[in-house]
Amino acid sequence: MIKMEWNDSFNTGIELIDKQHQILVRAINLLGLALERGSDKELMDAIFATLAEYTATHFADEERIFVEAGYPEADEHKHSHHMFLEKVTELKAKFDAGGDTAREVLTFLVDWLQNHILGTDRKYIPYVLGNGGQMRMTG
Ligand code: FEO
Repeated sequence: MIKMEWNDSFNTGIELIDKQHQILVRAINLLGLALERGSDKELMDAIFATLAEYTATHFADEERIFVEAGYPEADEHKHSHHMFLEKVTELKAKFDAGGDTAREVLTFLVDWLQNHILGTDRKYIPYVLGNGGQMRMTG
């Protein structure tokens, strides 16, 4: 079964963001369980509810934080949040129509974790932590 463990490479050093990113890791782990159980409907509903929570609160909080910090790529970042939301809405509609979307959702979320949380999200950290983007990123 798929089981992702939170590790230091996911940390941004911004407590609220890290807590919210852990929601996504939880969704990935739930999805692993759902796949094991033949895309169990109850679990899939829980995953989509988790994703709704993730998008509603996390994106708004993160955008507020990096805009206040003067992050210069705010618009591009907001756009990628918008694309995530569109994709989740599409996958949910497919699932509600009877599609077996568990593996597709899993692929999408793992890709999001690797490219967005471990990539795009890291770019605003120096601005938020207050050194105008000059901080060397380690770890
Ligand atoms: Fe943590 Fe940009 O999502």
